[in-house]
Amino acid sequence: SRFCYSHICLYLLPIFSQWDAITEMDEQNRPIHTFQVCHVMEPNQNNWLRSGWIQRQAAQRVYVELRFTLRDCNSIPWVSGTCKETFNLFYLQTDDPLPAATRFRPTDYAKVDTIAADESFTQTDLGDRVLRLNTEVREVGPVTLKGFYLAFQDVGACIALVSVKVFYKRCPATIRNLAAFPDTVPHMDSSSLVEVRGVCVENAEERDTPKLYCGADGDWLVPLGGCFCSIGHEEMDGYCRACRPGFFSAYAGNKKCSKCPPHSSSHDQAATICHCDKGFYRAIKDSSTMACTRPPSAPRNLVSLINDTALFLQWMPPADTGGRKDITYNILCQRCDGSDGDSGVTQCEPCEPDLRFIPRPLGLTGTSVAIIDFATHANYTFHVEAVNGVSGLGVAARSLANVTVTTHQAGPALVGVVRKDWASQNSIALSWSQVEQAPPDIVDYEVKYYEKEQEQLSYSSTRTKAPSVVVTGLRPSTVYVFHVRARTAAGYTAYSPNFEFFTTPEDPDIADQGQVLVVVTASVGGFSLLVILTLFLLITGRCQGYIKARMKSEEKRRTRFHSGHVPFSGIKTYVDPDTYEDPTQAVEEFAKEIDPSYICIERVIGAGEFGEVCSGRLRIPGRMDIAVAIKTLKGGYMDQQRREFLREASIMGQFNNPNIIRLDGVVTKSKFHMSNCSFFECSHFSLFPSQIMSFYPFSSGRPIMIVVEYMENGALDSFLRTRDGQFTVLQLVGMMRGIAVGMTYLSEMGYVHRDLAARNILVDENLVCKVSDFGMSRILEDDSEAAYTATGGKIPIRWTAPEAIAYGKFSSASDVWSYGIVMWEVMSYGERPYWEMSNQDVILSIEEGYRLPAPMGCPVTLHQLMLHCWQKESGQRPHFNSVLSFLDKLIINPSSLLTLVNDVFPDSPEDMPDYPLFISIGDWLDSIKMSQYKNNFLAAGYTTLDSISTMSIDDIRRIGICLIGHQRRIISSIQSLRLQLHHIQQSGFQV
Ligand code: ADE
Repeated sequence: SRFCYSHICLYLLPIFSQWDAITEMDEQNRPIHTFQVCHVMEPNQNNWLRSGWIQRQAAQRVYVELRFTLRDCNSIPWVSGTCKETFNLFYLQTDDPLPAATRFRPTDYAKVDTIAADESFTQTDLGDRVLRLNTEVREVGPVTLKGFYLAFQDVGACIALVSVKVFYKRCPATIRNLAAFPDTVPHMDSSSLVEVRGVCVENAEERDTPKLYCGADGDWLVPLGGCFCSIGHEEMDGYCRACRPGFFSAYAGNKKCSKCPPHSSSHDQAATICHCDKGFYRAIKDSSTMACTRPPSAPRNLVSLINDTALFLQWMPPADTGGRKDITYNILCQRCDGSDGDSGVTQCEPCEPDLRFIPRPLGLTGTSVAIIDFATHANYTFHVEAVNGVSGLGVAARSLANVTVTTHQAGPALVGVVRKDWASQNSIALSWSQVEQAPPDIVDYEVKYYEKEQEQLSYSSTRTKAPSVVVTGLRPSTVYVFHVRARTAAGYTAYSPNFEFFTTPEDPDIADQGQVLVVVTASVGGFSLLVILTLFLLITGRCQGYIKARMKSEEKRRTRFHSGHVPFSGIKTYVDPDTYEDPTQAVEEFAKEIDPSYICIERVIGAGEFGEVCSGRLRIPGRMDIAVAIKTLKGGYMDQQRREFLREASIMGQFNNPNIIRLDGVVTKSKFHMSNCSFFECSHFSLFPSQIMSFYPFSSGRPIMIVVEYMENGALDSFLRTRDGQFTVLQLVGMMRGIAVGMTYLSEMGYVHRDLAARNILVDENLVCKVSDFGMSRILEDDSEAAYTATGGKIPIRWTAPEAIAYGKFSSASDVWSYGIVMWEVMSYGERPYWEMSNQDVILSIEEGYRLPAPMGCPVTLHQLMLHCWQKESGQRPHFNSVLSFLDKLIINPSSLLTLVNDVFPDSPEDMPDYPLFISIGDWLDSIKMSQYKNNFLAAGYTTLDSISTMSIDDIRRIGICLIGHQRRIISSIQSLRLQLHHIQQSGFQV
């Protein structure tokens, strides 16, 4: 008989067989088919049970799992000699099943193992015997023929064979690293693995040959290499699926599909790129993962600043950068000369090629450029074009901002050809001739030069009275560019064309003979000139008194202004009008007299100590009308007042600088005649200044006026207050630069201003700032800010350096202190320095080391410069020329202005400025004149100083303070307060 389970059948062999096929019931009453044998009492048992023929299939190693019960001999009485507790497993390989009639021959079978039970019948506590099922697995083989038989030999045990499972192991088909591996049979030799190459799944490509190793136990081992999803697909549960619309995958890899970048879209499945929306582009170098972008809008707030050597253009980046960071700027220049007579059409052409742009005209990454070597009296139109990587890809118009600049200088070039007389390794001797019809009043020449290779803003210059010069201190074998301009009484002329000369190569054996020779010649010449000049003065019989007076004034001037100050050789120095015995002489010498009939007064624009200030026009016959401001002296003046009033003109008239207010002239002599007074002819005339009417009864009817250039935007402090927050930092720095240019000039002239403050700076329509108010350098009657000091002087305390307040030591260094305060006023849009602190508190707190904190939004670099200007020791403050070159560096490198002073605490309490202590929010607001906001703070729950110390500008806005100026004042004060609280907390006090 036979029993089959699955594919395997067991046969009861007719011969040798004492096994029985018995079906029992399990606990659930299901039948269990078993083969049993139990001849434990009879000796020499040899009972066989054999399987049918089992096909080997792909197996290399075959396993047999046996489940059986086996009774232990101790549990059966009287069987000690005959009972066994094992049975044997045998096998026989054949390529075909044996014919049915084949006789069973045990010797044909090979033994696999003797099988013993792990668990036999086990006695329980209750004394019952419970059947325990054993499971044993044995490996059979190696099996190499097509099939085999299994045989079980009983030698006298009590066995129930419940199941026989024959199997072999295989590594199942699998997908690893996006590669598919087939079902694999392990190697026969258990110590070697089967190497299997995988195949990439659909829409995947091979990265590194995918491999797995199939181990003897049917486990996949050592995954190597693999595949990744092709472009347009993403990995999902081991497979590659196409990207959905709106997503893309530009690279093969196991990444998820990405959402289309901004301004692009994909409409199909499996997109490898998202196409740009209309009006947006990708530059060639842009990766497909980048957003699509568009050309920028035009640069904003383009302004020009001009001085007599350079023209600066500054602008703000476009409001719309097009979504890119690679913005650069190109400067396109046109020169438009007047209108073409009859047609009235302005003729424009590209600018002359020798116009130099620093650092360059195209591809600028910063937002400013300096232009030099421009022509005088010319109209230039500059177009600043913003471009980015996608400019020019579409049909969009160019992004341009325009500004037109008219250059003014004293007049056409007077120097024609500049010749090189000789050159050595460190020097070049030059001489030049004047153009024909040059005016006789040439004061001196300025020679400007720079190394040709290092085209940069910083150049050198030297002055000479003769039409020749030896330029020394040059580098050997170097090409230098020279150009020369003359200075006449009316100011600078234009530069000559550029001339290039080079120094000779370095040769240690050759002495710089030429230089020695010429220097000797020059000194001999200089000496002769001095002798001739002295003789000339004596012979021309200029009165001795005058010479004495001038010499006395020279001396006085020297002691007063020049101690320790060496002005550039050849630069005119300032002459103090007080050193003239008759101050009227000073006015005559330095100010042009204007016929009042040339003046057309239009309106009153302000009031000064001496009288009203009007705006109007100056119409000198044969010249263009110019806008002017006219300072008038009130009728009924005393002689002393007249002198004081005109003092300003005699100072201003000595200056010639684009950042110093220009004196056009004075009216001092004319008798006033209604009939020929042209302000009646002035078409705009609407207002009749009272003081002009009052000229008649007094002072012999002489109107007294000072006529200066008109500055459209008036005083800087009020101008900034009305334009709060409207300028870029660069524009503000441009204003400060202008003031620094003016102050550098004044300090080099040996002039100390004493009342430098934003209220004394005037601003023109192009935001050019000019220093004004010179009359007050001696007495500060006119300045409402000036207060009497202990020593009796009247001083604008908040703007004045401590040594000047304490003992009247005014100098260019004290002007530098005031300049720092002006910087602060500029950066805070006209805030009052030290807010509402009393003058006495200001003096005390300065003495204790307190300095104004940085205004809101102030770059660190600028606040550092302010602090530098406010050094206690005047000798440690920078000179104006250093201030100027520092600002130039900031302008050329605007990124230096990006770091703002935020909430940076000082490192040590010594660095900590002091600040008055307030007990309550109310006190604090009172002190900064912001009492009206007490309720805002209280309503928002700010009740302690500690609580406000962390407030930001947004918090200030949130509690309902809307005026920018007020926000600014409050946040600046909080910053100071915060420093103080920090200091107090550090020193262990509770607030
Ligand atoms: N206020 C005083 N002087 C002025 C000037 N020159 N231009 C405009 N306003 C002024």
